[in-house]
Amino acid sequence: LKIAAVIPAAGVGSRMQLSYPKQYLKIAEKTVLQHTQEKLSQLNYLSHLAIAVSADDPYFATLNLQDERIVKVIGGETRADSVLNALRALQADAPDWVLVHDAARPLVTVADIDNLVQSCLAADEGGILAAKVKDTIKRGTSHIETTVPRDTLWQALTPQFFRFNELLQALTDAKQAGSEITDEASAMERLGYPVRLVAGRSDNIKITSPEDYELACFLLTKTGK
Ligand code: CTP
Ligand code: MG
Repeated sequence: LKIAAVIPAAGVGSRMQLSYPKQYLKIAEKTVLQHTQEKLSQLNYLSHLAIAVSADDPYFATLNLQDERIVKVIGGETRADSVLNALRALQADAPDWVLVHDAARPLVTVADIDNLVQSCLAADEGGILAAKVKDTIKRGTSHIETTVPRDTLWQALTPQFFRFNELLQALTDAKQAGSEITDEASAMERLGYPVRLVAGRSDNIKITSPEDYELACFLLTKTGK
């Protein structure tokens, strides 16, 4: 069984409001992208690790990443385009399954990734790590229209794990249809595939805004995650 991984790392990080992409922010001497890559590199069952970076990225080449399974791929305009480019680059090796994990989520644990992979392989279905919503959720613009029952609400995390050919087909189809998707699961849902929800740690946060970075620094350095 061949399992590949994709790390989309070709975003500009506009919400972080820096002069460079957030995946190159440093936490304890290493960039966010290195922390993330080192987590995935601990998975010895991966055949390849494709990292999608922007065409004009001057930083990636300076990182000196140590894993021989790493393949650099040029990313696209959207996250979905970046993942699609990476899948096309991996296609010649014909992986059976693929894990897709945001560069901006350095706090993921190997235990959670293993749990996702095991649970999906056992059920022979794709799935994602997700965390149950903890806050009371309101819908509205300036005032509350309604309180949304949260018992069946989940936050979608990554990794997301799918059969390689099905994900390639789903992302290609979503692109052709001009459908805006922000994760792999959305593309699979569009085509009616079942997608498992596998409970993961809620501290697997995506570094999106400056306060997320502060939290990630704390979690990665103070708690040794
Ligand atoms: N990503 C990518 N290619 C893109 C856009 C995003 O590979 N064209 C990656 C990012 O580098 C990040 C992950 O997808 O690791 C999650 O996306 P997001 O958090 O939205 O990152 P950015 O798009 O960089 O940030 P923003 O939306 O604030 O600009
Ligand atoms: Mg984005």
